[in-house]
Amino acid sequence: MKTHFLSIALLFVSLAQGLDPKCDTQEHGSTLQLFHIYSPSSPFRSSKALSWEESVLQMQDNDKTRVQYLSSLVAKKSVVPIASGRQITQNPTYVVKAKIGTPAQTMLVAMDNSNDAAWIPCNGCVGCSSTVFASDKSTTFKNLGCQAPQCKQVPNPTCGGSSCSFNLTYGISTVAANLSQDTVTLATDPVPNYTFGCVLKTTGSSMPAQGLLGLGRGSLSFLSQTQFLYQSTFSYCLPGFKALNFSGSLRLGPTGQPQTIKYTPLLKNPRRPSLYYVNLIGIRVGRKIVDVPPSALAFNTTSGAGTIIDSGTVYTRLVTTAYTAVRDEFRRRVKNGGTVTSLGGFDTCYSVPIVAPTITFLFAGMNMTLPQDNLLIHSTAGSTTCLAMAAAPDNLNSVLNVIASMQQQNHRVLFDVPNSRLGVVREPCT
Ligand SMILES: *[C@@H]1O[C@H](CO)[C@@H](O)[C@H](O)[C@H]1NC(C)=O
Ligand SMILES: *[C@@H]1O[C@H](CO)[C@@H](O)[C@H](O)[C@H]1NC(C)=O
Ligand SMILES: *[C@@H]1O[C@H](CO)[C@@H](O)[C@H](O)[C@H]1NC(C)=O
Ligand SMILES: *[C@@H]1O[C@H](CO)[C@@H](O)[C@H](O)[C@H]1NC(C)=O
Ligand SMILES: *[C@@H]1O[C@H](CO)[C@@H](O)[C@H](O)[C@H]1NC(C)=O
Ligand SMILES: *[C@@H]1O[C@H](CO)[C@@H](O)[C@H](O)[C@H]1NC(C)=O
Repeated sequence: MKTHFLSIALLFVSLAQGLDPKCDTQEHGSTLQLFHIYSPSSPFRSSKALSWEESVLQMQDNDKTRVQYLSSLVAKKSVVPIASGRQITQNPTYVVKAKIGTPAQTMLVAMDNSNDAAWIPCNGCVGCSSTVFASDKSTTFKNLGCQAPQCKQVPNPTCGGSSCSFNLTYGISTVAANLSQDTVTLATDPVPNYTFGCVLKTTGSSMPAQGLLGLGRGSLSFLSQTQFLYQSTFSYCLPGFKALNFSGSLRLGPTGQPQTIKYTPLLKNPRRPSLYYVNLIGIRVGRKIVDVPPSALAFNTTSGAGTIIDSGTVYTRLVTTAYTAVRDEFRRRVKNGGTVTSLGGFDTCYSVPIVAPTITFLFAGMNMTLPQDNLLIHSTAGSTTCLAMAAAPDNLNSVLNVIASMQQQNHRVLFDVPNSRLGVVREPCT
């Protein structure tokens, strides 16, 4: 029986710092550890401490760009699986420790379940952070030529020299890369000849500092490339923001996944095959199912409308009519909250301690009830509490509901792609 553990840290800013030795915990079995952005273990922690307000506003600002980006994908007429997946506009939220090459070099790659891209900053990279993969030191590294079938899956490949090279944009970044292969080990199993973009040049600040690991369903994603090993099955438990020990876990493969778990079908949008759509059929606040027009929740492959489960967005975004209904009922049920204030993109904040109702997402076949920890963010000073959700960014493509990482924290979320189903069960991993 194979089990696998990885270290995962929440990626937030691109400042790479050394690992805190206390955080360098052993990896064992099939579970990888997760660290939150504020964790002392996060190598991406900013050296300049952000205030709570600054952090929240920064995360929400990033979310807005990301949700706009995800929305734009689903509305596109033509699909270029890898290109569009790499244009994501913010750093994904969690990173995982990956060993690359022979001998192995460790990189902390950002984990993103809505993306298929795999890329690593390589030696000589202009504009990358200081931690790069020294491809020249690896005996198993090779650049793929233009004849390689994988080269057909990257956007606008060019054949400089003998390599398959490509350029793309990623948020406000541009990225130039060679299509390359090397051995990658996430847990204990080496994946030989893993195909990724070896990044040679980047501008802007959007690219995750040490690379990206797409856990989407598309053809060049990690999931597809490790199909023989993990059978397109994984689960994660994301740790909370405020926990001092920030360990969560990513579990790869069908072995060791929870047996007692409720499932909802995964839906597939052929125009955006890597996104994990689910069928959200209603939303309950406390005991009341709020009045949301069915069109706000309906899955539509043409418009891209529907609901996705995303690990790279921090706060859940609902289309405006759904959000408004949820928020209004939430406000009605908060007793003694006093005046409702706003903070940045959050419009339901209180300056006194409140008792909040639960919010339940009613999926086909499964209900996910969120307790206060998944719903409220509190200022460190204890003075402000906000409902940690917002309306989708106000643009033409605001048809996508995004169930984001804060609402998934301390749940095991199981992606069972072969059986087209998503499982969720509470699991305190903070
Ligand atoms: C990328 O490809 C070019 C063109 O073949 C080659 O000159 C260069 O050395 C490659 N870079 C890396 C890091 O392999
Ligand atoms: C890709 O980017 C590199 C580096 O910025 C540049 O030299 C090259 O001309 C670009 N290629 C294409 C096809 O745009
Ligand atoms: C990986 O690539 C090398 C060199 O191209 C080849 O010899 C080897 O058989 C490949 N290994 C696997 C497992 O595909
Ligand atoms: C944090 O987690 C590690 C490994 O999971 C554990 O060994 C350690 O005792 C924990 N530390 C605290 C303070 O809980
Ligand atoms: C799906 O969206 C398209 C484009 O917005 C729209 O024309 C169509 O009526 C929608 N389908 C359903 C079943 O609502
Ligand atoms: C989910 O909750 C709804 C409304 O409260 C209830 O009718 C339904 O049976 C529940 N579904 C499951 C699968 O528990």
